Amino acid sequence: MTVPHIPVLFEKCIEFLASNKNGIYFDGTLGFGGHSAGILNYMDENGILIASDVDQDAFSFSKKKFADDKRIKIYNMNFSQIDIIAKIESIQSFNGIFADLGVSSFQLDNAESGFSYRNNAPLDLRMDKSKVINAADVVNSFSEEDLANIIFQFGEEKNSRKIAKVICDARREKKIQTTFDLSKIITDITPQRFHIKTLSRVFQALRIYVNDELNTLKLFLQKSIELLKPEGRIVILSYHSLEDRIVKEAFKYETLDCICPPGSPICTCNKIPRLKIITKKPVVPDNQEIENNFRSRSAKLRAAERI
Ligand SMILES: C[S@@+](CC[C@H](N)C(=O)[O-])C[C@H]1O[C@@H](n2cnc3c(N)ncnc32)[C@H](O)[C@@H]1O
Repeated sequence: MTVPHIPVLFEKCIEFLASNKNGIYFDGTLGFGGHSAGILNYMDENGILIASDVDQDAFSFSKKKFADDKRIKIYNMNFSQIDIIAKIESIQSFNGIFADLGVSSFQLDNAESGFSYRNNAPLDLRMDKSKVINAADVVNSFSEEDLANIIFQFGEEKNSRKIAKVICDARREKKIQTTFDLSKIITDITPQRFHIKTLSRVFQALRIYVNDELNTLKLFLQKSIELLKPEGRIVILSYHSLEDRIVKEAFKYETLDCICPPGSPICTCNKIPRLKIITKKPVVPDNQEIENNFRSRSAKLRAAERI
C-alpha cells in the first residue's frame, strides 16, 4: 500500500502523548494512519486506540491498513463527537488525546476531491460529504457581504471585499462550479506575485466555513479536557494561526486558577485549573523535516497534561 500522507512531527507527537503503554488513546484525525501507527507501536498488547476521521477515503484506507490489529477501533465520525464515541466504547477517560488538524496530502493532491486550487474539480471542500452546504453553494448563493466576511475572517485576506464583489459579478454571468472557475475569477484581479497566497487564503476560508472547523475544534478541546485522566496528555498539531490561537487560548484558560474581573476584592469564581502546559512555546519542524515534507512548514505542536 502506498502512503498518501507523511505524518508531521511524528516522533515529538508520540513522545508527548505517551504516558502509559497499557493506556487508552484517541486519535481524532486518523487520516492515513501515520500517527496512529506510531501510537500502536508505542502501546503494548493491552493498550487501546480509538481513532476517527470524517473523510470516507481516509476511513476506508485506515480500516484496511489496521484490519489485523485488535487494539484499534476505527470510526468515520467528527472528532467533536469524542464524547459519543467514548460512550459507545464504554470508555470513561483517556490517557492521551491527539489531533493533527486540517486536511491530508491525499485530500489536497487527489484531483477529484476539490480541496486545492491546483487541480480542477467540482468546487466542494467538504471533508464530510454528508454536510449540506459545499463551497459552490457558498460562492453562488451567499450575499456579497457574507462572502467578504468569510474570506476576511477565515482567510485573513485583506482584499476580501474586492474578491467578494468579483465573485458576485461573475456568478451573475455564469454559475461558479469548479475550483478553476473560482481561481480564474480571483487571479484575474490579483497581481501575479500574490496569486498563490491569495488563492490559498480564499480556499482556506471556504474550507473552514464549509466544515465549521473552528467551532468543531473548540468543542473538541472542551470535551477532550473533560475526558482526560489525571496526568493524561492532549497533543494538537495545527497549521494556521486561527487554529493555533484557539488551541493556545483553550490550554491557557485551563491553567488559570481565577477568572474574576481584575480588581475584585475576593475570588468568587471557584475556577479550578485543569491543565499544565508542557510546551511553553509551540514545537515546530526543523529544516530537515521541512525539506523532506514541505507541507510540514507551518505546523505547530502544543501539548498539555491534565492535572
Ligand atoms: C493532517 S490529516 C491527518 C493525517 C494523519 N495524522 C496521518 O498521519 O495520516 C487530517 C485528517 O483529519 C481529518 N479531519 C479534519 N477535521 C476532522 C474532524 N473535525 N473530525 C474528524 N476528522 C477530521 C481529515 O479528513 C484528514 O484526514
